[in-house]
Amino acid sequence: MTTSTHDADPIEAAITLTPELRVGSVDRRLFGSFLEHMGRAVHTGVFEPGHPAADPDGFRTDVLDLVRRLGVGVVRYPGGNFVSGYRWEDGVGPPEERPTRLDLAWHSTETNAFGTDEFMRWCRAAGTEPMMAVNLGTRGVQEAVDLLEYCNHPGGTRLSDLRRSNGAEEPHDVRLWCLGNEMDGAWQIGHRPATDYGRLAAATGRAMRMVDPDVELVVCGSSSPAAPTFAAWEAAVLTECYDVVDHVSLHSYHDPTGRTPAAYLAGAHDLDRAIDAVVATADHVGARLRSRRRLRVAVDEWNVWYMSRWVDPDPDLWPQAPPLLEDTYDDLDATMVASLLITLLRHSDRVSVACLAQLVNVIAPIRTEPGGPAWTQTIFEPFARIAAAARGDVLRVESRVATYEAEAGDVPLLAATATWDDETGALQLLMVNRSETAPVRTTVDLHGFPAPVVAGRHEVVVPPLSWSVVELARRS
Ligand code: AHR
Repeated sequence: MTTSTHDADPIEAAITLTPELRVGSVDRRLFGSFLEHMGRAVHTGVFEPGHPAADPDGFRTDVLDLVRRLGVGVVRYPGGNFVSGYRWEDGVGPPEERPTRLDLAWHSTETNAFGTDEFMRWCRAAGTEPMMAVNLGTRGVQEAVDLLEYCNHPGGTRLSDLRRSNGAEEPHDVRLWCLGNEMDGAWQIGHRPATDYGRLAAATGRAMRMVDPDVELVVCGSSSPAAPTFAAWEAAVLTECYDVVDHVSLHSYHDPTGRTPAAYLAGAHDLDRAIDAVVATADHVGARLRSRRRLRVAVDEWNVWYMSRWVDPDPDLWPQAPPLLEDTYDDLDATMVASLLITLLRHSDRVSVACLAQLVNVIAPIRTEPGGPAWTQTIFEPFARIAAAARGDVLRVESRVATYEAEAGDVPLLAATATWDDETGALQLLMVNRSETAPVRTTVDLHGFPAPVVAGRHEVVVPPLSWSVVELARRS
């Protein structure tokens, strides 16, 4: 989106940027996504043998092209709620020998034609890092350790040799591992109280580190900041496993239904506060334990989700890859996605991973038709633009601008962040105007940057309810 003039008088905003004030680096993991065995995300989404655009692995190359254009740095798999009933062994080995199973989480039938090895091959084709989740719902320490051995051990053991005989000679070398999914949720298969889950996560994590000491472990925080046990859950879980894990998960979905645009866009401020709350809770536990470790936050599910449109599945039917959560997004949703990304970047000192949930068909930037085309939704554009633009370090941006009142408190009309890349001299300014009626005119003061940044004042105008990425400088 570009700047334009507008009839209403502009709201004035001011930003000062200096290269010394940096928040954190722009990790590609902040531009992650999520692929769950759910609906048509995998089957007829990324994987459709027989499709005219399918490669020999059955991967849709039209979808792969779009995923590469999106610029996704990491992809979480295989769930989501699905993982809490998943037997990973079902998804490896000769496809014709794989069992078909009931997927209890989404009341579907899973063929297991796509599994761990396919996912790893797909990640390589997409140029992205895999992030795996282990089942701590119906399974436990042994199965998690087995899956890790299968993926990361070089060879000479039953499971690593099984991987090799399945065609993956080299280890998959997966660094990021989620210890279950949303274990606080009553809907989660194998849901358990915080202390029990924290102990299981600690035991699983310790055993996983015996197989591969360099894995990074993500423990489940609350399924939502709106959950009644938010923060208390994190405190109780972390008390049991603080010294074992590296990241705490946070999920953040936003439903526009019944909200004014300004109230909806204020949701990014909720995410802002939720990140602060998880950081504060984790640091509090760390302080109590006299630990020197500092955990980071993995916002491993975030997006716009029209939850109000959810229809319960027919209890008598167990369809294969049914269309689920195929939300269609509009321009305001794109602005919301830009706004949430700005929030994530502003927290790059403590947010380590962020996954747009999900990637294809299920609440997704990419949609497909079985046997037909693949296309992008409105939310694709801000994600791709920001992922491509944001490089180097995030600069500290305090905008001076009017606020408005929302549920989350006083919310600035302008959301903004900036990135500076020492290598290329690229200075990028990312902004969202939350005003429903007026453009925001921002005066940007630049100080102390080396060439090619020209010190002085720049003026940028963002129309109402819009997002904008402005490159202020780049070395030629
Ligand atoms: O992304 C859809 C679902 O939302 C995931 O399976 C679950 O983790 C979350 O509740």
